[in-house]
Amino acid sequence: MCGIVGVLGKHEAAPLLVEALKRLEYRGYDSAGIATVDAAAQLDRRRAVGKLVNLSDLLVHEPLTGKAGIGHTRWATHGAPTVTNAHPHRAGSVAVVHNGIIENFRELREELRANGQEFETETDTETVVALTRSFLDQGLAPRDAAEQAIARLEGAFALCFLFDGEDNLLIAARKGSPLAIGHGEGEVFVGSDAIALAPMTDQITYLEEGDRAVLTRDSVEIFDARGTRANRPVRTIQIDSAHIDKGGHKHFMAKEIAEQPTVIGEALAHYIKGGDIVLPTQLDFARLDRIVMVACGTAFYACLTAKYWFEQVAGIPVEVDIASEFRYREPPIGPNTLAVFVSQSGETADTLAALRYCADKAQIAAVTNVDTSSIAREADVNLPIRAGAEIGVASTKAFTCQLTVLALTALKAAHARGRMDDDTLADHLAELQSLPGRLNHALGQADEIAAAARAVAEAQDVLFLGRGRMYPLALEGALKLKEISYIHAEGYASGELKHGPIALIDKTVPVIVMAPRDALFDKTVSNMQEVMARGGKVLLITDREGAAAAEEGTWRTLVMPECPALFEPILYALPAQLLAYHAAVAKGTDVDQPRNLAKSVTVE
Ligand code: F6R
Repeated sequence: MCGIVGVLGKHEAAPLLVEALKRLEYRGYDSAGIATVDAAAQLDRRRAVGKLVNLSDLLVHEPLTGKAGIGHTRWATHGAPTVTNAHPHRAGSVAVVHNGIIENFRELREELRANGQEFETETDTETVVALTRSFLDQGLAPRDAAEQAIARLEGAFALCFLFDGEDNLLIAARKGSPLAIGHGEGEVFVGSDAIALAPMTDQITYLEEGDRAVLTRDSVEIFDARGTRANRPVRTIQIDSAHIDKGGHKHFMAKEIAEQPTVIGEALAHYIKGGDIVLPTQLDFARLDRIVMVACGTAFYACLTAKYWFEQVAGIPVEVDIASEFRYREPPIGPNTLAVFVSQSGETADTLAALRYCADKAQIAAVTNVDTSSIAREADVNLPIRAGAEIGVASTKAFTCQLTVLALTALKAAHARGRMDDDTLADHLAELQSLPGRLNHALGQADEIAAAARAVAEAQDVLFLGRGRMYPLALEGALKLKEISYIHAEGYASGELKHGPIALIDKTVPVIVMAPRDALFDKTVSNMQEVMARGGKVLLITDREGAAAAEEGTWRTLVMPECPALFEPILYALPAQLLAYHAAVAKGTDVDQPRNLAKSVTVE
């Protein structure tokens, strides 16, 4: 993962670099560092372990001057999060920040060691500076040395080079990891994404695969993978440059949970026009014989939920796969397949690679939260989820907005394939439009959910059960709980319980059963009874009717507002999120930036 930034500016670079890194911290927060070249053209660097605030504190005591600089926020891949392993890495007169993995770093290191170079870190990135230094030592000019070094690198990288003695030169390169160039008046910037550069400029050029850029304050030269001069468009990007705040909430996650009625309402308003669902016209559902859906983590669970909608409502067979498995499995993809890639960030490395595998085989649709992301740009059709910036590492509003857009797409497909008449479509649209109100009602129960969460927080292990459309939500509920509260949690299809997991049941393991009173309710309740018969303590999340029918004997019951059956997963995501949130708060964990995680997973 990691986020990188570069500045050739008119003003002091350090504050700009730190501000940009703040906007990239979602990519990792194991360490942070910056390097600058000062007025005397001398390169120096500062690095600190942990969050960016530690680097900011260090800079107060040990400031760096200079109008040219590079910066990095790290999610450790090779080597522990220490100051020595923190970027920028430096060898002689070159410093580099890197996002990605240099796969041939061991061979390169051995080769360089054999030539007398010494290494001080455990990182793959140090080979980039060592290699560049070896070319500088041979007398090559900085840009040529960087070019020669880049040519030797295998793997995925976004790189930015800064040189001692050069206060008007940055070299940037992209292969497998995204990189954007920002254009100012007599200034130029580099960033892992445009959001990082938003306070400085809205004029952005995206580098393409294999591109290398030579930047000075007055010129941006881009070369493609063959070394030919390339013209990449400058786009005007609309990103709010204002500081993104918590809006009075204690955590971004709390704010983002609370925002769901609003952002879902906005997503619905974006797609529903004049009683119809307006999707890009290239999407021809009538000709499809199957849909393949690919994603990671929470986005994968959104796909698993959508499978129920596409199959039951639109009658289209759907396969859902985890991107890291899909990309290497070489699955056959026919021309009448729609391949759908769901990603909040739009930059997840495995999902992007899976998309590229399908690129010339099927029509590609992306469901993303960032219109300018690699996945959105490389798809044939992008369906924005319009959740707004999601800062909390644990995905909440992006998940329910993904569900909303996928539900709309399934309804549109059902209608286009003649499986749903106008009246039924209108009924379902009205049901969807009633969701924000129901979600607000569910948020009104936050205190009861918080009380249940405090009890759950005492457990070491938790099971989530669901059946049908509630099954993916059981998986999502377990993921949310484990990632932010560090409580071990697993989600199961309730029918699977007897096939093994029931052995885990005892009075210390809360079993959270997500069961609105729908067609499968009685079956889930039977599984719940099996848990209770073995001394298991059940937290039942259901609606009023479900509570009346099955509350007896449960440890606790949370009553959700009524909801049209088809769209229950969107509503029931809220109690799952709130349980995880309040359990994490009770345990005192770092809710918005849980350990070992990053918001955007740009390495495989
Ligand atoms: C969990 C979470 C992750 C992401 C996953 C995919 O709360 O946020 O599991 O869903 O890393 O990320 P995107 O959606 O950006 O591709």
